[in-house]
Amino acid sequence: METTVSAPKDVSTPTSAPAFDRREFRNALGTFATGVTVITARAADGSPVGLTANSFNSVSLDPPLVLWGLAKSARSMPVFAEAEHWAVHVLAAEQEAVSNAFAKSGEDKFAGIELEQGVADLPLLPGCAARFQCRTRYRYEGGDHIIFVGEVLDFDRRPASPLVYHAGRYALAASKDDGRSKAADGERLAGSFDDDHLGYLLGRAHFQFYAPIRTVVHQNGLDDAEFFAMSTLSIRVQASAEELAKLNGLTGCLLSEARLDSLVLRGLLAVTTNGERLYSLTPKGLALLLQLTALAKAHEADLLQQLGEADGVVLKTLLRRLTGLAGDSPDLWQPKALAE
Ligand SMILES: Cc1cc2nc3c(=O)[nH]c(=O)nc-3n(C[C@H](O)[C@H](O)[C@H](O)COP(=O)(O)O)c2cc1C
Repeated sequence: METTVSAPKDVSTPTSAPAFDRREFRNALGTFATGVTVITARAADGSPVGLTANSFNSVSLDPPLVLWGLAKSARSMPVFAEAEHWAVHVLAAEQEAVSNAFAKSGEDKFAGIELEQGVADLPLLPGCAARFQCRTRYRYEGGDHIIFVGEVLDFDRRPASPLVYHAGRYALAASKDDGRSKAADGERLAGSFDDDHLGYLLGRAHFQFYAPIRTVVHQNGLDDAEFFAMSTLSIRVQASAEELAKLNGLTGCLLSEARLDSLVLRGLLAVTTNGERLYSLTPKGLALLLQLTALAKAHEADLLQQLGEADGVVLKTLLRRLTGLAGDSPDLWQPKALAE
């Protein structure tokens, strides 16, 4: 079918210039959360062209049609005005850098990207949540934009958390709670914690997550403080009792030298005695810790699968932000890793 370039049918009566503020208008439009796409095409000289666009939307299932809008001022306009084919890439949460690269004008946006080849030699980006390869069906006038409607010739998708754009910022999408986790409303002491209290939720999540690991920790004759000391040494390699106590200060666990020496007696830690007393894991201690780490990772994978990948990304992002807010906690993740 021929591409139809439709003249707009203006059904409104002419109005004078709007009385509202441009910035406010943009802000109001920005309340509409969207995904983020990169649209690509091949220029007549064979070079790939692309830009970031959040104006993408679905139009019709039968025939399969999608649309997006391109600013008339865009450098890529001459290419898209002529292109018979273009591809829409729905970006995944981790592709923020791709979005930023394609939102800049004129740079070599495709540098370092291993392109795949689509219909009619369309340049396809890897790693996206979904891709739609389209043939231009209609082009409409739309004020300072041209609206492109394309027929979808082929598409693919992979399970991925989407990148979201809202109020001028990137965001993540989390599923809404379906209400199942709401606790029954009962009589409560005035001022008591409730199941919506952040501290309660964080604490409960922590203890629930660690319950199966803690069981194995205890079966191996370790208490929580000893386990924390050994975990810290898997990251720090070598540390004094004072340093270990400081790094674990937030846990409330007491890490005295006597306690660390008891781990030495059990063959799980070694201690250097020249000058400062520095503790490190023995091969036996390391083997036990790797076993516990494997257990924790398998447990994490199981929970994240139940939660869903997209919600797992959101949860970790928010927890990282929250722990960042906590301010003066010691930074356990300074270099000096085990692999060094
Ligand atoms: C999240 C986001 C969404 C955007 N959406 C659009 C859009 O829908 N249409 C458009 O023309 N420009 C959009 N832009 C701006 C273009 O990506 C930007 O102007 C780009 O430089 C155009 O590339 P070009 O000048 O090489 O054509 C968007 C930018 C961002 C960051």
